Parts: sequence; C-alpha cells; structure tokens
Amino acid sequence: MANVLLPRLGVNVDHVATVRQARKAQYPDPVHAAVLAELGGAAQITIHVREDRRHIQDRDLEILKRTVTTKLNLEMAATPEMLRVAFDARPHTVTLVPERRQEVTTEGGLDVNANKDALKRFVAELKGADILVSLFVDPDVEQVQTAARIGADAVELHTGRFCDAPTREVREEEHRRLVNAAKAASKLKLRCYAGHGIHYDNVGPVAAILEIEELNIGHAIVARAILVGMQAAVKEMRDLAWQARRDAVATPS
Ligand code: PXP
Repeated sequence: MANVLLPRLGVNVDHVATVRQARKAQYPDPVHAAVLAELGGAAQITIHVREDRRHIQDRDLEILKRTVTTKLNLEMAATPEMLRVAFDARPHTVTLVPERRQEVTTEGGLDVNANKDALKRFVAELKGADILVSLFVDPDVEQVQTAARIGADAVELHTGRFCDAPTREVREEEHRRLVNAAKAASKLKLRCYAGHGIHYDNVGPVAAILEIEELNIGHAIVARAILVGMQAAVKEMRDLAWQARRDAVATPS
C-alpha cells in the first residue's frame, strides 16, 4: 500500500529511571534503554525532567543529548529553571506539560487558554533557540486553537481519559474528542501527536486517527520490556500502531 503515513513511535524511558531511583542505584540506565529502544524501532526518545528529579536526572539528559541518534523530546514544566535546562540541552523538541509535585503522573493537559500570555512568551523563547515546541493538551478544540494562536509547532493530545474510560460510551465519546481535536490541529497546520496511558490493547484506535503523526508511550513499553526485553517491546508496539494505521487507511470510517 503506497503513501500511508505511519505514526512515529516516541519511547518514554522515565520508568527505567524510576526503577533505578527506587534504590538510588546506578542501574538500570535509561541511556542503555534508549539505545535498545532505537534498535527496536523507536523514532524518538522522550524523557520528562521533573522539577523534583524523581526519575530522570540531569546526567541522563546530558548523556542522552549526545547519544540519541533519532530525536530527543524533553517534557518539562514551563518554569524559568526548566527553560535554562532546555537552553543547555537543546533537544529536538520540548513538550510543555503541567506539573504538580503530588501527582503520580501528569494528570491533565496544559490549560493554554488560561495561561496564554505567559505560554506565548515561553514558546517564543524556545523557538528562538531552534527547538520545536509541542504543548500537551486535553483533546479540546479550543485548547488546540489557542495553541496555534500562541505559536506552538505541535500539540500532543492527552489520551488518558480515552485509555482509562470506564465504559464503552465514555470510550467512544473520548475517541470522538481525540478525532475532533486532531482534525482541528491539522486544519490549523499544527503537528499532532498523542500520548499518555496508551498500552498494547488500546493503541489501535489512537493510531487509526490519520492526523496523529506521533505517539509517545512509556509505562506500558517499559513494563513489557521487563519481561521480553526493550527491543522486542518497542517493536511489538510499533507493529500494532502501524497495522492499525494501515487498516484505517484501507477501510476509512
Ligand atoms: N506524553 C506525555 C506528555 C507524558 O507526560 C507522558 C508521561 O510522562 C507520556 C506521554 C507517556 O505516558 P505513559 O507512560 O502513560 O505511556
């Protein structure tokens, strides 16, 4: 089948560092995991440098910046400290995420509407350093429109509510929201990515949304890698995403 744009797979290696930090040990090393993820077919390595450094450390970012051969995507909060970190590291992409110290993981998308003036300045500073800027937002058309207005290059749609939907009705509704937000992004010439909560059994319907160019997946891949190895876990996820995309192109809904 010709001309099927297959989604890129970004592999988030934070949870390799979570295991290391649980014992403040030297292993397992997220740098090693990133090499194996690339060998397994990752098109990008994603890390979240949190303000409390609970998993990824500055040392990881420094080494990954030099060793990642695909692209490095740095997730971070929009704070002055993190802006300095981004300027030093110069990753390919910065994904701005909301961050609360008490949360187990990133709970919701950025409220771009409520913070548009501050975010606009932040986006401009990062773009000025030749860094592609993505905003992690809930699948909400208004948030996507504001992201475009303040100059973002991309939006990453938060798939958490779709992935965790308790009923079929909610799941269908959340899928519709993802489709509408992705179409809005495409119309506004924003690159459209997706992530959070995606695992091997729910990646299909997300990968089937044609406007989504990239998936960022962490927990499920690292969890499976413990059992089958990183390369195999990445390849399996990429194959599932690509098959879903090919099927969606072959039989459009
Ligand atoms: N995308 C963003 C913006 C995130 O914050 C995270 C979690 O760090 C992910 C993707 C990956 O989520 P998960 O670990 O649930 O796959």
